[in-house]
Amino acid sequence: MNKRILITGVAGFIGSSLADNLIRNNCIVFGIDNFDPFYERSVKEKNIADVSKQPGFSFQEGDIRDSHFIERCILEFRPDVIVHLAAKAGVRPSIKDPATYYDVNVAGTLTILEVMKKNSIKKMIFASSSSVYGNNEKVPFSEKDNVDYPISPYAATKKAGELLCHTFHHLYEMDIFCLRFFTVYGPRQRPDLAIYKFTRAIMKEEPLTLYGDGTSSRDYTYIDDIVHGIKLAISRVRGFEVINLGDSEPVSLGELVRLLEKITCRKAVRHYLPAQEGDVFRTYADIRKAGKMLNYKPATNIESGIARFVEWFRENN
Ligand SMILES: NC(=O)c1ccc[n+]([C@@H]2O[C@H](COP(=O)([O-])OP(=O)(O)OC[C@H]3O[C@@H](n4cnc5c(N)ncnc54)[C@H](O)[C@@H]3O)[C@@H](O)[C@H]2O)c1
Repeated sequence: MNKRILITGVAGFIGSSLADNLIRNNCIVFGIDNFDPFYERSVKEKNIADVSKQPGFSFQEGDIRDSHFIERCILEFRPDVIVHLAAKAGVRPSIKDPATYYDVNVAGTLTILEVMKKNSIKKMIFASSSSVYGNNEKVPFSEKDNVDYPISPYAATKKAGELLCHTFHHLYEMDIFCLRFFTVYGPRQRPDLAIYKFTRAIMKEEPLTLYGDGTSSRDYTYIDDIVHGIKLAISRVRGFEVINLGDSEPVSLGELVRLLEKITCRKAVRHYLPAQEGDVFRTYADIRKAGKMLNYKPATNIESGIARFVEWFRENN
């Protein structure tokens, strides 16, 4: 692809996977991350350990809320495109600490946009989320659906981020695609997410906690498909668009645990608790727009994706 890409949140799950792929495809990558303590720094350092040895990759530790830092990075690197992934992720913790979520996800995004404007950097990919659909009843979720009813501070910050992106596109002719990711999983997955927690519990022969009765569902999307979708967006970003990146094959919590049992050849001990505040009942992506605009087509089904995740988990734990 041969582009200069600045990735915020590069040491995280999606950022590091994207950086690996872009470097393999002859891009020059500049990564930013503040090693937010949401999960262990050592995990994030390991995520970027290999890519850091590559000549086309450079990294600066710092915070997206620090406009001087961001400006220094942008002036040093002069990116063609910024892929803005840095955020406080996770629905449940956002209920406990909405102010920090607001600060990083909204004020931080505004800082990036302002610095871009000041330095005439015109292209951005913004990481939004399926959580913006809240508990919408109509499925699959389409980009045309109303998303005015988020049910967690996290979801509200992602919606606010999209609104700021549109505003900067309108005022300053920036080209921005907001990609709504649907539950991403695979090697390096965040340890707070269900597939990771369930796998760990099954391996340790500990009970796993299921919130709700097992019928809630998620449109799990394999990391390679998300990385591929981001790359397609990088090469086509023009104007302003909101685009779902999902698998469009929702899987219930109960089915997910049965699949993990099958793949690990172990029996799970299920411990049921009431559904959690802020968690939506289901997610289900309509991916026709991604197909049409980006030529996006997910290639990894849940069985093979989970098998690859479990293999990675075994090697790394
Ligand atoms: N993983 C998913 O299922 C999913 C779904 C929808 C949307 N998203 C979004 O995709 C993006 C990446 O998610 P992820 O799963 O890789 O999460 P992650 O937590 O693994 O990665 C986010 C990275 O951002 C960094 N970061 C946080 N605050 C920062 C700050 N103030 N300054 C600089 N860096 C900061 C963190 O240290 C982390 O390395 C996030 O914006 C997230 O909201 C993820």
